[in-house]
Amino acid sequence: MQAIYAQPTLVEDLRSAVNERLDSLVPAAQRGPQRVTEAVRYALLAPGKRIRPLLTLLAAVDFGAAVADALDVACATEMVHTASLVLDDLPSMDDARLRRGQPTVHVAYGESTAILAAVALLNQAFATVTRATRLPCETRLALVERLSAAVGFDGLVTGQEHDLHDRGNTATVARLEALNHQKTSVLFEAALEIGARVAGAADRSIDELRQVAAHLGLAYQIADDLFDVSVPLGPQSKDLHKDADKPTVVSILGAERARERFGHHMAEALKLLPARGAGGQPLRDYIVVTFAQTRLC
Ligand code: IPE
Ligand code: IPE
Ligand code: MG
Ligand code: MG
Ligand code: MG
Repeated sequence: MQAIYAQPTLVEDLRSAVNERLDSLVPAAQRGPQRVTEAVRYALLAPGKRIRPLLTLLAAVDFGAAVADALDVACATEMVHTASLVLDDLPSMDDARLRRGQPTVHVAYGESTAILAAVALLNQAFATVTRATRLPCETRLALVERLSAAVGFDGLVTGQEHDLHDRGNTATVARLEALNHQKTSVLFEAALEIGARVAGAADRSIDELRQVAAHLGLAYQIADDLFDVSVPLGPQSKDLHKDADKPTVVSILGAERARERFGHHMAEALKLLPARGAGGQPLRDYIVVTFAQTRLC
């Protein structure tokens, strides 16, 4: 129990480190094509929860790496995630107007700048990994491969394409969860794996973490889809009802069974998470606290 009370300090410290480092890993507002640079900073430095970089850092720490060795590659996962949000919000995708408590990037800067900002963020993510000179070359190469796989044909791109265009043909829980896996779990998998690889963890441990992340992503997307159809109780940080007309695990199962399915994925994730870490188990504690707080309205 004590670990859970002690954990917010560590997590808050890591989140602050991520926020500070993100600020220095993208060009200053005065540099580069000013409008795009501003849009990148606007999207990236807005108050996101930083779940993916925290997973990377906590996995790295859990396996014995120094935070400093994992910080830049953790920030790269956040750049990829933020780029995916900028694209996801576009008028041709979810057509959202509010993100992270502020107007979406295309509302603030126009659609063409939003697209260029997303491309810039993706490229900056890969550049950041290649420049992480605290890590050996072969590690950086492996991490670039891992992150690019999470974005590409087996990851976000395919997941989002199915999400936008193929849902009518995928309306079973199994198929929707395959889509959610590509759309959401694959980047969680990459985040945990990258942290473990920085620490030189064994392939077997990495395989275990990948399974944990797969369940976490599926749980998280169910929670997000429940939230999407909920009646807001107070001010929201992003638009709701954007997926209301699409089949989702929630629309197919109904809210109650979807909550049970969320519980199933969380239980599996925690069961598969190997017990490690010197007493504090910060990764386990972060997962328990973060996902328990996920709104399941
Ligand atoms: C939103 O991700 C997209 C989903 C996978 C549901 P987050 O809930 O992590 O959003 P931010 O990064 O905190 O804004
Ligand atoms: C998309 O899921 C998750 C991404 C891969 C960006 P959603 O479209 O449900 O995410 P939100 O609700 O807009 O954050
Ligand atoms: Mg979407
Ligand atoms: Mg969306
Ligand atoms: Mg959503």
